[in-house]
Amino acid sequence: MADGTGLKKIYPSLKNNSKVWNGSLNLPCLIREGHKGNILSADMPAFAKLTVAEISNIVNFLHHSMNDQKTVSFSAIKSQLNECEQRK
Ligand code: HEM
Repeated sequence: MADGTGLKKIYPSLKNNSKVWNGSLNLPCLIREGHKGNILSADMPAFAKLTVAEISNIVNFLHHSMNDQKTVSFSAIKSQLNECEQRK
């Protein structure tokens, strides 16, 4: 779990989940707004109170610990978050 492989049937894997890393998913928005369950029978809760800086730290931690060592800038995170603000 701490290694990103998920917990079978409860939390999906992040590490080998191409959807998370191929750019098709807006990860900052997903963290902030949660996610309606479609693989498992549960929903991911929203973390609406997280600041842009906190979300930025989480996204960068994930890239470095389980994917491509890529650094995502604060302003890139901010503009991704704007996308879900627009949708409201
Ligand atoms: C920063 C922390 C987190 C990140 C980055 C994250 C990321 C994700 C991602 C990317 C998905 C979609 C997976 C997919 O569609 O293949 C997902 C789904 C899910 N997450 Fe999270 N998550 C986080 C925290 C949590 C927490 C704390 C919980 C539970 C308390 C949770 C519960 C779930 C559940 C139940 C789903 C399944 C949805 C389904 O069935 O489709 N997540 N998460």
